[in-house]
Amino acid sequence: MPHLVAPSILAADFTRLREAFDMVNRSEADWFHLDVMDGRFVPNITFGMFIVRAMKKMAEKPLDVHLMIVEPEKYIQQFRDAGADVITVHYEACPHLHRVVQMIRESGAKAGVAINPHTPVHLLEDILEDLDLVCVMSVNPGFGGQKFIYNSLLKIKALREMIIRQNTNTLIEVDGGVGLQNAEKILQAGANVLVAGSSVFRSENPAETIAQLKQIGQDKGIAV
Ligand code: DX5
Ligand code: ZN
Repeated sequence: MPHLVAPSILAADFTRLREAFDMVNRSEADWFHLDVMDGRFVPNITFGMFIVRAMKKMAEKPLDVHLMIVEPEKYIQQFRDAGADVITVHYEACPHLHRVVQMIRESGAKAGVAINPHTPVHLLEDILEDLDLVCVMSVNPGFGGQKFIYNSLLKIKALREMIIRQNTNTLIEVDGGVGLQNAEKILQAGANVLVAGSSVFRSENPAETIAQLKQIGQDKGIAV
């Protein structure tokens, strides 16, 4: 399967959101990546389900909703009702992760779990078969525009091996500091979904950058 590209709307100009959505709709991007932050799990606040619902109206592609919030189990159904297609919660925010993952699946959304840079992938060993997606955070969550943490490549590789060993269909998403300069390495390590915020929206031609991110690895036969 070719890899997916999910532009992170956090890096868009929020005074011109409609244009940003239209650009992504027309581009080769696969998903919209939406970052929900609560000022508690991460030291930043963005938007909630009300805005996700408005974004759903503008989006012609699936919404990949990344919940950087404490107690996400309280809001799963509301984000699903707002139009989330993939709902990702943080491992570090869920003492009862298995239950939350089941809630996401029962809501009809695809279930993702994100891990912070310090969280080892092996902690997902006993829940991997229940996950549609694992999001490897390659920066500390909370802000766009940070530098990619290179140790993430080792985590992606370890996760890929775990997925092969357990024979699951789990997608590996990589989020934070992803751009044209490191996408090939990330894909070679075994990733399936590239989240890209600043590298897309701060580039001269965002749609073209998305096309280039899609193209990477295609001619070299990187298969995951
Ligand atoms: C960070 C968010 C990311 C962020 C990525 O907490 O989860 O999705 O928007 O932005 P860039 O690509 O600029 O690092
Ligand atoms: Zn994110």
